[in-house]
Amino acid sequence: MEKDLLKATRMIPCSVVLLTAATGQARDAMTATAMFVSENLPLVTISLSRSSTCRALIDESGECVLNVASVGQASLARKLGSTHGSQVDKFAEFKIPIMKSSQMNAPSISGSYANLECKIITSHRAGNYLVYIAEVVAYGVDEKQVPLVWHENRFFSVEKEVS
Ligand SMILES: Cc1cc2nc3c(=O)[nH]c(=O)nc-3n(C[C@H](O)[C@H](O)[C@H](O)COP(=O)(O)O)c2cc1C
Repeated sequence: MEKDLLKATRMIPCSVVLLTAATGQARDAMTATAMFVSENLPLVTISLSRSSTCRALIDESGECVLNVASVGQASLARKLGSTHGSQVDKFAEFKIPIMKSSQMNAPSISGSYANLECKIITSHRAGNYLVYIAEVVAYGVDEKQVPLVWHENRFFSVEKEVS
């Protein structure tokens, strides 16, 4: 692949979610991006590297929580995006503040803009990634928080309304 083309996908401003996943025995958290698919049903999509620890937990449990990151979680988003749950207990290492989710084994992360509890409906292999479609089955929102956006490997806040 032409070196320059490797940067192509960075041109798209992306949502930032702190994804949590758990089975009966293990849990993990990672940074990811999620995209709207449909409103009715409420469907979203995520794409996870096959090597991700969370990906293995999702395949086992069939569910995850998408904690929509707030501006105050930018530093946590960097940390969860550069460490692997197979090597470190991220909840202990980064003192992630959690609360019980209403329908998932995976915890929700306090201080997020929103917590979307999702059940996986289907997945599709794409290169070294698995693309999942998930249905939101419960959610909470804290509208006092400002969501984060990721663009060109930098974090921005969603703050200024332009239209
Ligand atoms: C802003 C940001 C967005 C990311 N988005 C994704 C993503 O959509 N899919 C993915 O597989 N990895 C993504 N990553 C990288 C993972 O968070 C990273 O590989 C992490 O170490 C995986 O953790 P785990 O092995 O504990 O699951 C992103 C990282 C950052 C900083």
